[in-house]
Amino acid sequence: MDHHSQAGQPAKLILDGNTFELPVVVGSEGEKGIDISKLRGQTNYVTLDHGFGNTSNCESAITFLDGDAGILRYRGYPIEQLAENTSFLEVAHLLIYGELPTAEQLSHLSERFTEHSMLHEDMKRFFNGFPSSAHPMAVLASMVCSLSAFHPGIDMTNPTGEDFDRIAAQLMSKVRTIVAFAHKKSIGEPFIYPRGDMEYVPNLLNMMFSSPTKEYKIYDEVVQAMKVLFILHADHEQNCSTSTVRLVGSARTNLFASVSAGICALWGPLHGGANEEVIHMLEMIQKDGGGIDKYIDMAKDKTKNFRLMGVGHRVYKSYDPRAKIIKQCVHDLLGKLGIDDPLLDIAIKLEERVLKDPYFVERNLYPNVDFYSGLIYKAIGIPKDMFTVMFAIGRMPGWIAHWKEMMEVPGGTKIGRPRQIYVGPTKRDYIPIIKRGLV
Ligand code: ACO
Repeated sequence: MDHHSQAGQPAKLILDGNTFELPVVVGSEGEKGIDISKLRGQTNYVTLDHGFGNTSNCESAITFLDGDAGILRYRGYPIEQLAENTSFLEVAHLLIYGELPTAEQLSHLSERFTEHSMLHEDMKRFFNGFPSSAHPMAVLASMVCSLSAFHPGIDMTNPTGEDFDRIAAQLMSKVRTIVAFAHKKSIGEPFIYPRGDMEYVPNLLNMMFSSPTKEYKIYDEVVQAMKVLFILHADHEQNCSTSTVRLVGSARTNLFASVSAGICALWGPLHGGANEEVIHMLEMIQKDGGGIDKYIDMAKDKTKNFRLMGVGHRVYKSYDPRAKIIKQCVHDLLGKLGIDDPLLDIAIKLEERVLKDPYFVERNLYPNVDFYSGLIYKAIGIPKDMFTVMFAIGRMPGWIAHWKEMMEVPGGTKIGRPRQIYVGPTKRDYIPIIKRGLV
């Protein structure tokens, strides 16, 4: 995507007495990067950047994030405006295809979702192979990868053509059915099939919570809260799971398998798994009497392997704009449903301390997207181990958009293949085991 960036003054690097010029690229929001892709060829040096904190893996036109200013925009649109005014499908279209849909495009997308909402009947048998205690993220990752065994793949000579539109719709629509079926399996109830007359979020809630003997009452407030969460989760540029999707996809791996890898990355407690961990932490504090001092101290103590979950972010060094919206959403939803959750009081106390305590202030640690989202899911009646699965549904458009963007790079994106600095033993000769005196 070189055509998207302007060129800045080249950077100069002095190595072993020689000066090398490195091109500088400037993004559309003025972000600057030093292009080191030719560095090794010119100098025999590579760069070392643990956790990729300073390394851009691509140029991307999907999401803009300014972590210092607390700004998040999808394709230029501020997240606050999208969360308030759009539907999840509109945002999915925006992220994947670059523009908000026309009414005709939106109804076409919705029809495609209905067409692809059911699972192949043979896939239902897979659910029986899992123990009812299986973590839903394990089920989701396996089932999403298995979709590639049931549905014709993309013609990779034209990876973003008609086939892509079908597979993207299949993925986004079927993932909802997989999640609902996984829930039904875990509680031992019969599957409830998707309906053609329901929109995205109500359809999911109906599949999860209705049963043959009882229809689940879908409240507008619940639909609204889930829609907002899905939109806030829909993309977040080169985070751990999206980078995983891109890395796997860079080998020209199919979309289902690439996204399945992203789901595995999201599962980790330092990433999307944090929403589940936050509730565990709040419950632990509650059981312990509700006092937060001990936990604040533990989080600051480097000898204890404990962090405040839902706090801190690699990129946001000010308040996560998504957390701001979600915090308001928790208050609205709990108020409307008449729920008084003591965990919310503990969360508010924790946040107040985090915003004042020098340890967190000095390190720019603020509540992140996961700090309050679990309280919404809990209020809706979604079990804790399903929280990260909900995040995965929301992140689907972002993963798909990044896979597509990568496939559209003229000439194809280079396969992802980082370097390393080897620090193991230098050359030594093999000695047969008998001579090593081990037998
Ligand atoms: N509690 C206590 N201390 C923390 C926390 C926390 N939650 N987060 C970071 N710190 C401290 C670190 O110990 C470190 O301190 P030091 O400088 O004295 O060594 C400093 O803040 C910087 O932390 P890093 O781990 O270097 O920051 P990094 O950018 O690598 O990590 C991360 C970001 C993983 C999000 C981290 O803040 C964390 O573990 N948070 C808790 C888990 C969480 O909420 N994850 C969800 C993130 S949002 C998402 O992925 C959807």
